[in-house]
Amino acid sequence: MSPTPSLETPLPGVTALPGGLGWTVTDRSVAVRLLADERLGVVESAPVMAALAARLPPEVRAPAAELAAFAERIMLQAAPARHAELRRGFGRFFTADAVDALLPDLRLLAERAVSEAVARGGCEFMTQLAFRYAVDTGARLIGLPPAEYRRLHKLSQQLALVAYAARLADPAQAVRDGHAALCEIRSAVAAARAAAPAGSVLGQWQREGIGELPEPDVEANIVMLIQASLETVAGMLGNTAARLLGSAGALADPARREAAIDQALRAEPPLKTLERLVREPVELDGFRFEAGQVVSVRIAEANRPAESGEPVAGRAVLSFGWGAYRCLGARLARHQALELFGALHRLAPDWVLQDAEVERVRHLRFDMPRRLPLGPPPSPPPAGTPAAGLPGDLTEALTEALAEHDLDRPLSSVERVVAAAVLEEMGRPRPEPTDLPQTIREWVTWANHDRG
Ligand code: HEM
Repeated sequence: MSPTPSLETPLPGVTALPGGLGWTVTDRSVAVRLLADERLGVVESAPVMAALAARLPPEVRAPAAELAAFAERIMLQAAPARHAELRRGFGRFFTADAVDALLPDLRLLAERAVSEAVARGGCEFMTQLAFRYAVDTGARLIGLPPAEYRRLHKLSQQLALVAYAARLADPAQAVRDGHAALCEIRSAVAAARAAAPAGSVLGQWQREGIGELPEPDVEANIVMLIQASLETVAGMLGNTAARLLGSAGALADPARREAAIDQALRAEPPLKTLERLVREPVELDGFRFEAGQVVSVRIAEANRPAESGEPVAGRAVLSFGWGAYRCLGARLARHQALELFGALHRLAPDWVLQDAEVERVRHLRFDMPRRLPLGPPPSPPPAGTPAAGLPGDLTEALTEALAEHDLDRPLSSVERVVAAAVLEEMGRPRPEPTDLPQTIREWVTWANHDRG
């Protein structure tokens, strides 16, 4: 059989997935054009569940049908017209005003989590701050006690496994497990709804309903919100912390905090890929994506400037997706991060990561650090003790701060003030104004031998 023309003329940044399934896309321009094209759709649940049903014994077909009906209601798996209705219903919880109304609570929750870490004298950032705060804030949004949010999140993961059941040796058991999880989710959501506070998603549902949406639609998408808001947010917080908390004092500058969130989202998107299915053939620059093929966009790569050098969609970050299905929680997520790092700045301004190396989670979908021990910086050595690493460290710090590599050039008066500040930052006394060394080499010699 001769190869299809599409295999012979691949676009830049487009490579074949194994088994002829489709394509991975890393090029920004191609990614943006494909994600905005209605001929590509999200991966809908109906065909997956139909393939599963064909492999099931009769006694589990009814629970499988119930699972399929639930999955079809989830907005991120719905075809455009249906998706638009569901998204309109839930959009009210994510407008600028709605997020602003949540800010005081986000701040309180951030301060509570950080205060507890401060009281313990340090923490493991991923479990004790990132996940814990993501749970607290997600639970606040939905209107659940945090422990119940965690339990529902776990149950929703069991439910999601049903999508892979057709590939398992015993798909019927996966359906039974998934159905048991669904029943538990339903009774937990009903109980939580009755008790939910006003100003939460469940509270709104209980009091006034959510737009015109039928109850089963609301139920399924509340479960989706729980699923969408934990690892993504915790990942963003961990990836930002790994960039921001490497050195003492980095937290102090609000612009630097914002920049670290942006850079982390851009370089380490918490969700690594966006999957789409080609519904009708699409031609791009002479290359044909065939109906039925999968397109998997690698977000970190697609966030980089286009290979052509042409600006594509400005510098917009694709980490929250692109097009009609772009993340509803993007604005909220950014504020969650701002509040957590703001609280860290207020309550633990000098805390730094305790390990220079960051081990990352190996997960198919998520990108985040595994552990980030965080705490106060090591105390400076008592005055008079030569600090470890000097004079190399001091020479490096001075040449960097002064942007000067000539160790023997006489420094200006302003540069000598900077040099004194560097010494102080490194826990060393500063020389008397009458005794100021003239060159970087003299400063290092003074700090190591002459002072005192
Ligand atoms: C840093 C945190 C987050 C990241 C990186 C993230 C990422 C994403 C991405 C990439 C998509 C699009 C998926 C696709 O097109 O296939 C998405 C969709 C979605 N996200 Fe987020 N998300 C985050 C936080 C949240 C939060 C906090 C919520 C809600 C509480 C949320 C709710 C949603 C919803 C409802 C959708 C589906 C939108 C639609 O189908 O129209 N996300 N998210």
